[in-house]
Amino acid sequence: MMLTDDVCRYRVLIQTGGRMDKGRSVDWKVIVILAVLITPPLLFYIIYAIVFGIYPSLKYPGVTMNVPEQSINRAVLYNSIQNSSFKTNFQLKERKANYVKTYKLVCYYSLPTTADSLQVDELDPYLCTHINVAFAKVVNNSILINDSQKESLEKLVNLKNINKDLKILMSVGGSGNDVGFPEMISNHKNRKSFIQSVRSYVKNFKIDGVDLDWEFPNEHQKVHFTQLLEEFRKSINRNPNYPYLLTVAVAAPYTIVDSSYAVSYMNEFVDFINLMSYDYHFYTRETPFTGINSPLYASDNEKFIFSTLNVNFSAYYWNHSGMERSKIIIGLPTYGHTFRLANPNNNGMYAPALGYGELGNSGFVDFPQLCQFLASNQITPIFDMENKSPYAFKGYEWVSFDNSQSLRYKAEYIRDNRFGGAMVWCLNSDDYKGLCQSENGGGKRFPLISTIKNVFANGNQL
Ligand SMILES: *[C@@H]1O[C@H](CO)[C@@H](O)[C@H](O)[C@H]1NC(C)=O
Ligand SMILES: *[C@@H]1O[C@H](CO)[C@@H](O)[C@H](O)[C@H]1NC(C)=O
Ligand SMILES: *[C@@H]1O[C@H](CO)[C@@H](O)[C@H](O)[C@H]1NC(C)=O
Ligand SMILES: *[C@@H]1O[C@H](CO)[C@@H](O)[C@H](O)[C@H]1NC(C)=O
Repeated sequence: MMLTDDVCRYRVLIQTGGRMDKGRSVDWKVIVILAVLITPPLLFYIIYAIVFGIYPSLKYPGVTMNVPEQSINRAVLYNSIQNSSFKTNFQLKERKANYVKTYKLVCYYSLPTTADSLQVDELDPYLCTHINVAFAKVVNNSILINDSQKESLEKLVNLKNINKDLKILMSVGGSGNDVGFPEMISNHKNRKSFIQSVRSYVKNFKIDGVDLDWEFPNEHQKVHFTQLLEEFRKSINRNPNYPYLLTVAVAAPYTIVDSSYAVSYMNEFVDFINLMSYDYHFYTRETPFTGINSPLYASDNEKFIFSTLNVNFSAYYWNHSGMERSKIIIGLPTYGHTFRLANPNNNGMYAPALGYGELGNSGFVDFPQLCQFLASNQITPIFDMENKSPYAFKGYEWVSFDNSQSLRYKAEYIRDNRFGGAMVWCLNSDDYKGLCQSENGGGKRFPLISTIKNVFANGNQL
């Protein structure tokens, strides 16, 4: 009160030009009223700042579309099945794995739709062993791509003139694009016309095969889907002059594996599977907490269903369900997932989240944008040694991603456990312009996929 009193007297002195006027007590009231009005929000702000901290505003690089937005369907689906009861209890019977001489590096490539997209002539023909073209549709029981896709595909096939070992496959379906599959697999006649349409596509475009990415067959469709694969294999065997590869992009969570696939039959019919071992943790209303996009292993404190949401569990689940290890191609992401924290001081794993972060697009962020975000805000990521994956946060923003360090661990895991190789989603979200300075010495194009390639190349020298 003394202070207010003095200030008040001082003000009065100034206003009256030094003449103290005892009669003017109106100023007093105004100041008290102002103080009463200002104090609560001021106190609130001080307490808020003590509890939650004061955060600098972050710089967000412009939103790009290098992670096709449709991936959101799979991420939501993966994360909505986590409530189902935990029941798997397979035994790990260690057998001597086949020696894998060469590792596959299967890269998905989303065909360009604008001048800003990754163009065919920006690809390195020697980076990947297989390029899977995303995506054809199933229309009227036939495989179908539109004219602009045809144009890009023809250019892409020309890369085989440079690297004759490069394989190019047309991938059919994709997340959120299962239209056409249910009708096509439903009877023998429809399946037959689909297989014939694929055969003429393979011949006409001089590609090396087809990758079926139906997300996902249900319990009833599983049998017909398996029949489709069997009929494909018979058709390929009957026409030895035009052999082509048959692969399937498959789910990672064991609940979907159990309901969608007859694994040991698939093992006989497909050349290999592309395991979509990412999107394990993603913001949804049912899973409003942070988590790693593609953890290699579970962490110690993850129990029950949570201990199954990692690459190692999924890969061995597929193997123990009947798929040979050399046919399991393990999916690795070049994109990250963003979250908005509920409380910036609670910023570890499984911290409460209120939604997607501001970075990227609907919770998906490509690597160049992420790299720029970390650099311009001087954020140092934390590397989680249990999950073998990094994450980063600042203020309300929380992001899980992969960098050269995590991908080196994951590629070494694939090599040391003798799986068939790595699949990458996708070429488009790696740093294809070489803008990121923090990876691989900085400034190299495709730094993430190159890291995987280098691990496999070293493995082959053994
Ligand atoms: C699919 O079949 C329907 C009916 O036969 C036909 O009207 C339609 O044009 C066909 N669509 C395509 C893309 O061929
Ligand atoms: C062709 O299909 C792609 C992928 O579905 C789509 O993005 C593109 O707009 C289509 N182009 C034309 C000319 O229809
Ligand atoms: C990897 O998975 C196998 C099979 O589920 C399990 O036995 C093994 O302990 C896991 N490895 C690690 C490091 O968690
Ligand atoms: C797991 O993979 C190994 C190596 O490919 C294979 O020998 C074994 O049969 C697979 N396990 C099952 C249950 O199929």
